[in-house]
Amino acid sequence: MPTGRDRVLSGMRPTGKLHLGNYLGALANWVRLQPDYDCFYFVANWHVLTTDPTESGKAPAYTIEMAADWLGAGLDPERSTLFIQSLVPEHAELHLLFSMVTPVGWLERVPTYKEMVEQLGIVSPSYGLLGYPLLQSADILMYKARFVPVGADQVPHIELTREVARRFNNTWSPVFPEPEAKLTEIPKVPGTDGRKMSKSYDNAVYLSDTSAEITAKIKPMVTDPARKRRTDPGNPDICPVFDLHRIFTPDADREAAAAGCRTASIGCLDCKGILLRHMLPPLAEIRERRERYAEKPAELVEILHEGSRRARKIAVETMGEVRAAVNLTV
Ligand code: TRP
Ligand code: SF4
Repeated sequence: MPTGRDRVLSGMRPTGKLHLGNYLGALANWVRLQPDYDCFYFVANWHVLTTDPTESGKAPAYTIEMAADWLGAGLDPERSTLFIQSLVPEHAELHLLFSMVTPVGWLERVPTYKEMVEQLGIVSPSYGLLGYPLLQSADILMYKARFVPVGADQVPHIELTREVARRFNNTWSPVFPEPEAKLTEIPKVPGTDGRKMSKSYDNAVYLSDTSAEITAKIKPMVTDPARKRRTDPGNPDICPVFDLHRIFTPDADREAAAAGCRTASIGCLDCKGILLRHMLPPLAEIRERRERYAEKPAELVEILHEGSRRARKIAVETMGEVRAAVNLTV
């Protein structure tokens, strides 16, 4: 489907079902870009192995869960190419060739590498982990993507990608355009305990949660600790529930809730009730659409396989240019 529009590409590691933080931080943005760009979104399943090769057993089920979330949120396989990294093995060949023009020092200096090693307490980091951002460069440059929608933590990876493209072009011949990160304003999404929403903190609201489940999570959610009693006034600016109001509640109701909090004319449960009234309907829409796909995993598999065939056609074209540029064979 050549459309002449700029290409957008992004990927997610399959780590299971997505929560509100994943949705508002990335997926919602992917959906927004769909009408204006030729979008490629993929399951970065090789990247999972860079931190824990034993995770491969879970990848297939996680891939299905994540694809159901993608479609539930509104990604449209007719408009966007949704694919699986490992089904386009050309990415690995491009990664190999890039590795020949990438100084080890560039990779050692990528901040996420040091962070991963420290956070996960990895004693002997693998060659694959060091190469994580270079594999990402191959993912991006394979499709000559113009924009890469990512969070701020990924910007060094896009910078590396630009440097690798330049190195390749200077070493052999100009094949790759330099992509740009497309940063979007990401709202603060607190979990039910007030910390950042995260699967590992067990504080997340999932796109697969029913309205009853979401209600049961929001009701005991942490609020401004100064409001011990119903009559104590509170401060919405330091309340995690209010961060959710900023995302879901229209101005008039949100301002009324803030005023009610400051004057103690409403209680926290009332305030959460207002939030739920605005939060549940859009999430129910996503969940219902998600469920229709989750019930038919074979259909999801077919969508991802079809997308991978489409992606592969482009990858094969790019690799034709790359092989001609590198000019190895007789
Ligand atoms: N590193 C990205 C993340 O952790 C996932 C990813 C892999 C990616 N390859 C990519 C994102 C290519 C954008 C483009 O979120
Ligand atoms: Fe937070 Fe609302 Fe309670 Fe105020 S009334 S502390 S904003 S939950």
